[in-house]
Amino acid sequence: MNIEAFFTEDTKAALQNDPPGQWMPTLPDGCVRLSSGVPAPNLIPVEELQAAVSRLLEEEKDMPLHYVGSPNMAKLKEQLQARMLQRGIRASEEELLITSGACQAIDLIARILLDNKTVVAVESPTYMEALEVFQNYTEHFISIPVDEYGLQTDKLEEMLAERESKGLPLPSILYTIPTFQNPTGTTMTMDRRKHVLELASTYDFLILEDDAYGELHFQAPPVPLKAMDNEGRVLYLGSLSKVVAPGMRIGWVTATPKFINTLARFKKDLDHAFAQATMASYIDRTDLEKRLHTLRETYQQKCTALLSALEQHMPESVSWYVPEGGYFVWVRIVGVDTAKLLTQALDEGVSYIPGKHFFLNHQEGAEYLRLSFSYADHKEIGEGIEKLSKVIKRNLS
Ligand SMILES: Cc1ncc(COP(=O)(O)O)c(C=O)c1O
Repeated sequence: MNIEAFFTEDTKAALQNDPPGQWMPTLPDGCVRLSSGVPAPNLIPVEELQAAVSRLLEEEKDMPLHYVGSPNMAKLKEQLQARMLQRGIRASEEELLITSGACQAIDLIARILLDNKTVVAVESPTYMEALEVFQNYTEHFISIPVDEYGLQTDKLEEMLAERESKGLPLPSILYTIPTFQNPTGTTMTMDRRKHVLELASTYDFLILEDDAYGELHFQAPPVPLKAMDNEGRVLYLGSLSKVVAPGMRIGWVTATPKFINTLARFKKDLDHAFAQATMASYIDRTDLEKRLHTLRETYQQKCTALLSALEQHMPESVSWYVPEGGYFVWVRIVGVDTAKLLTQALDEGVSYIPGKHFFLNHQEGAEYLRLSFSYADHKEIGEGIEKLSKVIKRNLS
């Protein structure tokens, strides 16, 4: 049976893009995982989550296992509202929708705002899963380069002005990760934050702010765009994947009540009552501030270990941005195709993600790679960078 013959034209068009998730081959045993943008196993609060599950079932019996769910789901909303308030974002209950991770939120937002005529502005490079989602809906993109100070808003302004003068369609939405960006680890400066909000207002587009790493700051926390947004243009995405556990699939969107209502109308997975109630029960008994403090210290130390190893082992032609938080270091190796280098690196026992996967249609980024310091421990990080430097030096000479 050729079920594919029944696919819609839109589905067929989306399938023209590379198959999603093809960016990392299976890792060999014992490989140092500098590719993995996930928490280290010892940073997942397994026992505390186990206790939360037991407590929940003891207190509420079958309730969180039903469609209707448990009162704890409402509590989770309050807990997330309190976390956002810490970051300067005041959101009412009507302005908040809990989703199955930030990824579901991106997909739902794309479902509502994009069709095959819509133009999306994206950072270049950016989070590959988001690119894959947007490409399921449209093929019209504007890519704006990112430098060490985040999205280059002057370039965005130039592109917008040029498109306007030529009568070309303007973007409906800009997707940005202003704080500890994936993959570059960079943070948008305050001036650029103000500028991008001004541009959104002048050229009338929405901003999708992905703040998945926002709470993992090594110094003073940057102010989210949403906290500076007077017009309700910013759709804000949060996630507990990087600070609690990605498998719990707790993310959220904050936007105007009407927009949240529309998202809820199209969100047909009926909520993950058990995961949401468990998370609420976990947060209820956790000193989250203390946990975040420990995570920030731990990731900062791992980041320092990675940066020192780069300093120590890498040849002169290799350069990188120094992050102020998050999980990633973005590395440039002039004259080397990092996608071709990967097989040798895996043979040597270290993994990374080749830079091209973070660019639209993989047309740029051959000289870049993304390293993550979140998963490996200090010793592995040092060993991994030494191995990687060996492979790089071999290919430079
Ligand atoms: C920028 C960014 N947004 C969203 C996510 C995914 O978040 P979630 O697990 O909540 O879907 C990631 C995960 O790597 C990410 O890097």
